[in-house]
Amino acid sequence: MSEKNIILTGDRPTGRLHLGHYVGSLKRRVELQNSGKFDAINILIADDQALTDNADNPGKIRDNVIQVVLDYLSVGIDPAKCTICVQSALPALHALTFYYMNLVSTARLSRNPTVKAEIQMRGFADEGLPAGFFAYPVSQTADITAFDANIVPVGEDQLPMIEQAHEIVEKFNRIYGETLVMPKAVIPENETQRRLPGVDGKAKMSKSLGNCIYLSDDAKTVKKQVNGKMFTDPQHLQISDPGHTEGNVVFTYLDALCTDEHFGRYLPDYANLEEMKAHYRRGGLGDGTCKKFLINILEETLQPIRAERAKWEADIDAVYDILREGTARAVETTNETLARVRRAMRINYFDDRSIVKEWEALLKK
Ligand code: TRP
Repeated sequence: MSEKNIILTGDRPTGRLHLGHYVGSLKRRVELQNSGKFDAINILIADDQALTDNADNPGKIRDNVIQVVLDYLSVGIDPAKCTICVQSALPALHALTFYYMNLVSTARLSRNPTVKAEIQMRGFADEGLPAGFFAYPVSQTADITAFDANIVPVGEDQLPMIEQAHEIVEKFNRIYGETLVMPKAVIPENETQRRLPGVDGKAKMSKSLGNCIYLSDDAKTVKKQVNGKMFTDPQHLQISDPGHTEGNVVFTYLDALCTDEHFGRYLPDYANLEEMKAHYRRGGLGDGTCKKFLINILEETLQPIRAERAKWEADIDAVYDILREGTARAVETTNETLARVRRAMRINYFDDRSIVKEWEALLKK
């Protein structure tokens, strides 16, 4: 077992990535990548997991594999420092999932709060719950352990998955001997970065609600989302009225995105967000000014991402090679873990002659 610092994280390719992904994880991944502190950084495009609730629509998942890789590359994930790979092309993960399924009870799986909420949201309670979807936390444990990852940067909603991974790893190691690395979740520190709401203030950005700002959206679309869909404080009718910054989605976004430097560039009347908020609360600061400031910050953030995306979009062959090479490396890594797991379980019949000797002894008795 390695004593290294290895990261594994991933996304389901069910749509293009949006600002919520950016502030909640992508930005951090780039920082981790550039810190030089890690022995390996693996980013998994979890298409198999996405298929657990999209079995009837593999085309959607396939389309979004390329979208997600483009999103990664455009935010600055560097294929020279990170391994970007596709889950379905890693057969070791399927085998590991199958063994791990025996280490978790269905009762335990049905208590996973994230999966429970997803079952509700998707209407599976009435329609019938796909067994694969029910068990996806087990496959996620396979993802993590196959890379010997000790660090798993994720959103808050993924904590129950890591908890299940802990239990499975603990149980595996107890039954078969120290084999798997115990992972640790790392979640964003900033409260609002953990869960950026949709532009309409609803809990989460989601495609079906039309409340996303995608990393690939053009400037016009972003502006329209902010001006058209962001409700501020319903009691803040006149500029001179005192306003609320809590639960005001414009300020929620500013909490997640703005730095003191942004004030220097776009709103020099204030030194920082606290000063700006104080003015809004007192009255005298208009919503238009706040939105314009936010749009400037969004543009500063998104414009370089868009430009980088355009470059990669013009060279899909290069993107394809990055994905293929990353996946080939990941095949090696995950196959080694599977071999270790089978050794630990002693079901590695064809590379361990001592098993044959045991069989011979058994039959001689
Ligand atoms: N379940 C994660 C999500 O919905 C995606 C994912 C799949 C993942 N495998 C993973 C995240 C392994 C971290 C580690 O966002």
